[in-house]
Amino acid sequence: MKLRSIELALPHAVEAAAFLTDIWGMAPAGATAGTYYLRGSGPFPYLVALAESPEPFVQSTTFVCSAERLETLRASVTAAGLPARAVTSQDPGGGHGIEVELAEGELFRFLADAAEVAPVVGADLPVKLTHVVFNSADAEATATLAEQALGFQVSDRTKGMVFVRCNASHHSTAFARAGFASLNHVAFEMIDIDAVMRGIGRLRDNGMAPAWGPGRHGPGANVFAYFIAPYLPVIEFSTAVEQVPEDYRTGVPEDWTWPANRIDQWGMSDKDFAGLRVAEELFRHRRTWEPDPLHSSPLHSANEETA
Ligand SMILES: [Fe+2]
Repeated sequence: MKLRSIELALPHAVEAAAFLTDIWGMAPAGATAGTYYLRGSGPFPYLVALAESPEPFVQSTTFVCSAERLETLRASVTAAGLPARAVTSQDPGGGHGIEVELAEGELFRFLADAAEVAPVVGADLPVKLTHVVFNSADAEATATLAEQALGFQVSDRTKGMVFVRCNASHHSTAFARAGFASLNHVAFEMIDIDAVMRGIGRLRDNGMAPAWGPGRHGPGANVFAYFIAPYLPVIEFSTAVEQVPEDYRTGVPEDWTWPANRIDQWGMSDKDFAGLRVAEELFRHRRTWEPDPLHSSPLHSANEETA
């Protein structure tokens, strides 16, 4: 199971796409009927889809997996009684699978047989997405649901967040104890710390300072730099997230405390709490499709996408 992409709807999609290519450092990956696709250097055909819309909202966060894993998901999602439907992706890479809505409206899409593309060599692009984090009214309940219905695993709990993995990467998603449901931020994996620093420099060249960072987190130990981007959710340059074994001990908040005046390992950056909070509330979840009972065979999924 791998995190692949996020599909956003928003006003000013053209300007947001231009920011991601010209300043953030992504490559264009095609456009269809008002939707702009942006890719990184890795083998995924795109990482971010931007669809023009009067209101900003999250359409889906997409994971790719094997056909066997998809079968397991169909069963666990059905058993959990969650709204879901079969889909055939019309996005670059295609693939078929399911879309699922969790209890607070979070929309996850799981695709099998999605095509990959040749990696880009020699360009300073983000490699892939490394995590998509959500704000939750009840982060514990949402994380438990992600474990039961999606087969994910909680890696760590802190005072503010529940970190959840779907493979050996410490977290591919997380649920912040925010008191409301929305998209918290989207993190892009850079090849190394130098690439993170070059990214910060590129944004500074364009008059943008990090809202938080550079720094190194506790759980996951990844390097980070967060930005409040025009028209977009909070976005992050990240690298070197911890790889964890199957039997990783799930941390509790008492494992992750900081000395006074510290909220990361390095302590070199201020955090714009107020600005980040506003940006974190921008993108809510919105399901634009009707649930339909899932069939057990992928053969049934070929023609059921309606939106
Ligand atoms: Fe992050």
